[in-house]
Amino acid sequence: MLTLQAQLLNRLEQRESEGILRKLKIGKASIDFCSNDYLGLTRDQTFQQQILKTALENPKSLMGSTGSRLISGNTETTMQVESFLAENHGNKSALLFPSGYKANLALFSCIAQRNDTILVDEYVHRSVHDGCLLSNATKWKFKHNDLDHLESLLKKMKGNTLIAIESLYSMDGDFAPLEDIAELAFRYQANLIVDEAHALGVFGKGLVYQNQLQNKVFATIATYGKAMGLNGAAVLGSRVLKEYLINFASPFIYSTAASDFQSLSIRASYKYMDEHPDLAIRLQKNIEYFRSHQVHSISQEKSPIQIVQFPSSTKLRQAVTALSAIDIETYSVFAPTVKPGLERLRICLHQFNSFAEIDRLCRIIKQHQYV
Ligand SMILES: Cc1ncc(COP(=O)(O)O)c(C=O)c1O
Repeated sequence: MLTLQAQLLNRLEQRESEGILRKLKIGKASIDFCSNDYLGLTRDQTFQQQILKTALENPKSLMGSTGSRLISGNTETTMQVESFLAENHGNKSALLFPSGYKANLALFSCIAQRNDTILVDEYVHRSVHDGCLLSNATKWKFKHNDLDHLESLLKKMKGNTLIAIESLYSMDGDFAPLEDIAELAFRYQANLIVDEAHALGVFGKGLVYQNQLQNKVFATIATYGKAMGLNGAAVLGSRVLKEYLINFASPFIYSTAASDFQSLSIRASYKYMDEHPDLAIRLQKNIEYFRSHQVHSISQEKSPIQIVQFPSSTKLRQAVTALSAIDIETYSVFAPTVKPGLERLRICLHQFNSFAEIDRLCRIIKQHQYV
């Protein structure tokens, strides 16, 4: 029998031989077409100064929280910020988590019971799948954004049914047909859960809020690590949902609470977003400009994530090498992460990208898109 160490090494070597070994690298100062910092808040000095001011006015908020929120880690500040978030999103309650991953893990691990079913879009984030793994409910996948497939599954359901989607998908850069899915969920009395990780900030308070669907959505996950330039997440929903999570969600109960600084920064980011609508407008101008080069494939209008496909994975590899040689950072996805033939370059646009940078990016892409 192999020792555990040898077994681990074997699996790593196998990954390496398949060319899919993950490695940590230091984010270098390059032209960013890769990060989730869509509004550029992590490099926005005015925003940083406001966060610094928040810290100076609340020096104790920087310290650890001393425990789980159910023991010693709960504070007036966090409770106030949660009320602020619930009110701002038009929901009855909000519960904060240190990250989006933890919020999804907490939610999906505990809200469905043995005879219930969680229907997940095949492209939902890993954190949803991991949450489902901890749950006693059954998980079924439905084809991405396919309402007919979803309905065919809904017809078979017994027990309570949950539907897990994202309002904007990061893999294909496309939107969920939110209103149609909400309508379908309503018709079949299913409970819709919408992860707004990539939409929050890019589209104000997210697409559930913009479409005023709060009453048709069981829970919304607002994630602060992307356009809002911070960390953390909130689960928005009913008061019962919040009380239930506080009682049954292990990742909430058995983990040290985030610091008050995180809650205060989240509140500051909403204020900043309200005061700077120009950031999202500039982002949309850049998306439009990028799309005018016509190098994109399946992604939709207005999406900050645009997918570019190449005639072969060799061409894609060559494009990535050429882009990185001129310091343009993008994210490429190869098989087996996606099916062979669907390998792609994922371009994240930001409000701070210049038209000249977009021109340079598209010039290299075009050079490799022809056979
Ligand atoms: C759709 C989606 N949900 C959840 C998460 C996890 O959020 P966080 O990075 O805050 O843990 C991500 C992050 O990649 C995401 O893309």
